[in-house]
Amino acid sequence: MPTFAFSTDRADGLAVDVLVLPVFEGPQGGPGVKDVKGLDLLGQFSATGAKGKRGESLLVPTGGDETPAAKAVLLVGVGPKNAATPDACRRAIGLVARQLARRRTVATTLPQIVGAKDRLEAIQATVEGVLLGSYRFDRYKSKADDAVRRLGTVTVLGAVGKADAKAAKDAKEAIRRGEVIAESQMWARDLVNTPALDLPPAEIAREAQAMAKQVGLTCKVWTEAELKKGGFGGVLGVGQGSVRPPRLIELKYSGGGKGSPIALTGKGIAFDSGGLSIKDATGMEWMKADMGGAASILATMRAIALLKPKINVIAAIPSAENMPSGSAIRPGDVLTHRGGTTSEVLNTDAEGRLVLADSLAFLAEKKPRVIIDTATLTGACMIALGTDVWGAMGNDRDLIRDVLAAGDAAGEPGWELPMYEPYRKLIDSDIADIKNIGKRFGGAITAALFLREFVGDVPWVHLDIAGPAFAEHPGDYWPKGATGSPVRALVRYVLTKAGGARA
Ligand code: BES
Ligand code: ZN
Ligand code: MN
Repeated sequence: MPTFAFSTDRADGLAVDVLVLPVFEGPQGGPGVKDVKGLDLLGQFSATGAKGKRGESLLVPTGGDETPAAKAVLLVGVGPKNAATPDACRRAIGLVARQLARRRTVATTLPQIVGAKDRLEAIQATVEGVLLGSYRFDRYKSKADDAVRRLGTVTVLGAVGKADAKAAKDAKEAIRRGEVIAESQMWARDLVNTPALDLPPAEIAREAQAMAKQVGLTCKVWTEAELKKGGFGGVLGVGQGSVRPPRLIELKYSGGGKGSPIALTGKGIAFDSGGLSIKDATGMEWMKADMGGAASILATMRAIALLKPKINVIAAIPSAENMPSGSAIRPGDVLTHRGGTTSEVLNTDAEGRLVLADSLAFLAEKKPRVIIDTATLTGACMIALGTDVWGAMGNDRDLIRDVLAAGDAAGEPGWELPMYEPYRKLIDSDIADIKNIGKRFGGAITAALFLREFVGDVPWVHLDIAGPAFAEHPGDYWPKGATGSPVRALVRYVLTKAGGARA
């Protein structure tokens, strides 16, 4: 991992391998561009036909003259000046992050494209963009490309001129937040990208335990026998078709004295074949990512443990593998969840809600201030909102608003879908309390209405991340595969509630 430094030096005086300077759409020189004399940077940029749009970049060697002291300048388009945001920083540097990872020393004025009010956010986003944008999953390559891991130091030029001690301290904290959050998000990506062969429920639990030990979280892993005693019929039922038994991972962070905790849970299906209601072969390989919700919660807990907000947070993450076999649950079977509610399983491929029912009921018993769950729950949510936006559904307006705000501020947006009451009857069961599928239309909503049955009167929001959890195409700061979404949104929500960050 590179180290990040904050500086208030002039951009043209830094002897680095690459100086990254922003260009607004126009093109119009962004902060630092004018300081570099003699190279006609903007002229060269325009000559390539570039307009300053995001995604455009030009590397200009400097010829080793006195100014700038940098060996090369990398001009990056950041889009219109009036739309400059922290997220524009994350995306602009994310797009060139792989190129930067081949150099040893880098400096950038990028965060200065936003006003002073958002400067710390922009510094954090820039750090996140450098790290997230250079992420690669090459664990399974026999020959990894080490040239993309050269980066030693990145100097973030947050302002020109003298910063007081307070401003420098704030900037360093913003850098640290960016590092911790991006590293946690990349760890989530690793978990999600890892083939299911190597990551059964017990292994996910072991990863959680190792992480917890490293960052100082309390961790308890429930075995199959313990789940039986505890009445976790959903987790057990979904897991019983696999030779690799289910688990429940409990994590605890104490930073808020006796205050009631924020409770988190996430869908941890190690592999979703659909079970006896088996999925089509097309695209089934993506279902190794059906523990994306679990990974996002684990990574959020990791970041929280390191950033130490003054608040309590607990997590209970159910993990099972959904496989067809002689021991698998059948359509028509009835499961008894934690707390006694029964569900009729009419489609074994609607398994996420069955495991979450148990963890939600378990968390509700603890009387938390809120419960948030993340789950790659329905294809229907992807149809509704596309690949980049998660769906938010819950029973508490304020909580939904706060989580949406955190997502917007973190560059991981969600959108609310309605908990339309008349749809509740679609999941009435003839023989049990509730059934696990509704109609094809409105599938994201009936799934959320199912989950609602298990949270009692605790304020709760469900994030359907089936779209954003993994990407079929590379994006501005992620390669094809796991995105680690929505770790940034979740961490921001928690920090904001603890009074530790602005949303
Ligand atoms: N894990 C899937 C949802 C999913 C599908 C996530 C595609 C990401 C990409 C989930 O378990 C599932 O199979 N849902 C079914 C529910 C249906 C059977 C009611 C779906 O969405 O089709
Ligand atoms: Zn699933
Ligand atoms: Mn499924």
